[in-house]
Amino acid sequence: MSATVLIGAQWGDEGKGKVTDILAQQSQVVVRSQGGNNAGHTIEANGNVYKLHLLPSGILNPQTLCIIGNGVVIDPKALLVEINKMKDSGFSVSNLKIDARAHVIMPYHIQIDELSELQRGDSEIGTTKRGIGPCYADKSQRCGIRMCDLLDGSLFETKARENISLKNKMITHVYGGSPIDADAVIAEYKSFAKELASYVDDTTVLLHEAIKAQKRVLFEGAQGTLLDIDLGTYPYVTSSHPTSGGACVGAGIGPTYIDSCIGVAKAYTTRVGKGPFPTELFDKTGEDIRQKGNEFGTTTGRPRRCGWLDAVILKYSVRTSGLTKLTVNKLDTLSGVGDLKICTAYEKDGKVITEFPASLSELEQCAPIYESMEGWDEDITDVKSFADLPVAAQRYIEKIEQLCCVPVWMVGVGPKRNQNIIK
Ligand code: GDP
Ligand code: IMO
Ligand code: MG
Repeated sequence: MSATVLIGAQWGDEGKGKVTDILAQQSQVVVRSQGGNNAGHTIEANGNVYKLHLLPSGILNPQTLCIIGNGVVIDPKALLVEINKMKDSGFSVSNLKIDARAHVIMPYHIQIDELSELQRGDSEIGTTKRGIGPCYADKSQRCGIRMCDLLDGSLFETKARENISLKNKMITHVYGGSPIDADAVIAEYKSFAKELASYVDDTTVLLHEAIKAQKRVLFEGAQGTLLDIDLGTYPYVTSSHPTSGGACVGAGIGPTYIDSCIGVAKAYTTRVGKGPFPTELFDKTGEDIRQKGNEFGTTTGRPRRCGWLDAVILKYSVRTSGLTKLTVNKLDTLSGVGDLKICTAYEKDGKVITEFPASLSELEQCAPIYESMEGWDEDITDVKSFADLPVAAQRYIEKIEQLCCVPVWMVGVGPKRNQNIIK
């Protein structure tokens, strides 16, 4: 049995796509189990850059079965754009399966996402405006539309009309927006249904069969621990479970089938959207990291907020997801930054805080306690072995292992498949 869950250990964009693509070359199944096209996973391979939002990052391997699980929310229009892009790049995408239970993002979800962010004004969450939150809200409210409903023409029409009639009241009366045209949406979505029908299946069965047949399965997380609706910096979170437990519910398998959990982290911290960020840098160093690391969102293009590595966060990820090892990406970005800092704890009202707080107001008052680390100036993007890294870079990784009590098994020194050091 070999089922591995891979999750983001910070606020997303840790380089999960790259690591998934690498591991996918030895996996027979890659599964997305939560989130939607709010995710943006970048893969640099074969001289091309692929930006995937809904398609699992195993899609570049035609032999790998790629599953979009029941816990994912699917914008069919966005998915078709992505499928067609991959076809234009020479991939058949015939290795894709979509679970019949996955919920569908409708145009009113996107509109309500935009309007509710506008209404929040300064206290906006900074969502990707892809309709993610409103779609998960409908799922919980039990009025959502699933892929199996989308494929059932008359049922879809009934559900869509019921929803649109109610949502239009909300859109026009509460938010002052323009109503959705039910006939146009139904016609458009019926055409999406035709195009997507051949991909839809009960993927919980396919996955169970694969696991029973001892196939190697990789669960590709989207977002990251601190964006988890339960465990993240609520309300500045997404609406799903990016922590490892989410993989079970979102793919329809029991926890007994999972045998390892890998956390993906950056060698520093970034965040897009609003919310507290204790180690955020507002100075030249922060700007240098943003420019050098090209820290601009894959999905929305927004500049990512940058800061020092926060070991309190990483320890929280290790604990809440049961991480067995870490990948640390973008170590190359820290070359030439000067002396480095790692946050080992927080200080609040004269007290040392070692566990990530639940309360956001408490977190906002937390000042990071740093341990200074020697930096390095060498370009490390061609380094192939841990021993060949500058000593200061080796010490930096070893400090992460020591603070988080888990081994770092891979270090990223560039965005490409071959720019990774197995430790
Ligand atoms: P994801 O959402 O976790 O898959 O991460 P993103 O793709 O949104 O953002 C990570 C960015 O860093 C992408 O542009 C990757 O190509 C890039 N990347 C990944 N690993 C490394 C690395 O080790 N070094 C550098 N310089 N870039 C990396
Ligand atoms: P990947 O998979 C980074 C953030 C948004 C916002 C919050 C809620 O590429 O790591 P949403 O649209 O989900 O309701 O937005 O979550 N967010 C991400 N940040 N990486 C992501 O995905 C993200 N997906 C959502 O910026 O703060
Ligand atoms: Mg991303």
